[in-house]
Amino acid sequence: MTPLDYEYLQKLLKDRSGLVLSADKKYLLESRLLPLARKAGVPGITDLVQKMKAGSDSLINDVVEAMTTNETFFFRDKTPFDHFKDSVIPELIKARAGRKSLRIWCAASSTGQEPYSLAMLLKEKAAELAGWRIEIIATDLSPEVLEKCKAGLYTQFEVQRGLPIQLLVKYFKQVGTMWQLNADVRSMVQFRQFNLLQDFTALGKFDVIFCRNVLIYF
Ligand SMILES: C[S@@+](CC[C@H](N)C(=O)[O-])C[C@H]1O[C@@H](n2cnc3c(N)ncnc32)[C@H](O)[C@@H]1O
Repeated sequence: MTPLDYEYLQKLLKDRSGLVLSADKKYLLESRLLPLARKAGVPGITDLVQKMKAGSDSLINDVVEAMTTNETFFFRDKTPFDHFKDSVIPELIKARAGRKSLRIWCAASSTGQEPYSLAMLLKEKAAELAGWRIEIIATDLSPEVLEKCKAGLYTQFEVQRGLPIQLLVKYFKQVGTMWQLNADVRSMVQFRQFNLLQDFTALGKFDVIFCRNVLIYF
């Protein structure tokens, strides 16, 4: 890969996703893009860049998706979820008692563990929230991760990361070697593809926004 290829990819990634690739991330770029180059039938990154410049929009989307990091797990970092459960929700139950509705935005949801953690916490408060209209909107740049979100299917490894065993037993059922979140919890979350560089107006107003770990790897 030439320095000009690197500059081209740095600018593309910043313009399309907001992620800034510093000069020391060449190894990361190569490890993520070489499999894509092979898939596109070219020997290396320089040829991949040529193909992108020739105007393949779907290839450009694939490159941006390959460069984003989708690492996530249930109840990640614990504290924000404890705070949501113990302070934010009780305060909102008082503050929104008149309209009995809550809108929550999970703004970079990756494969769904974050919005579904919130959905399970709200399920645990079902008695207090009876009769409330609750919307959880989960968005991400990547259509691929959103497909996984919708299915709500997780491996043994994924359910062992952060999910308390009581919630696994209560809200999931085993499907072969995988675990699927029950339909009533899945149906609490709506998924939409959305780039955080876009205008947020169309999404409407929210009572709570979770926007976490989007830029930490860059
Ligand atoms: C590391 S995951 C974090 C997931 C979750 N919020 C968490 O904390 O576990 C980062 C997610 O941000 C998404 N992302 C990166 N840039 C984005 C952008 N410009 N707009 C929307 N999503 C973006 C990626 O696709 C990825 O799924």
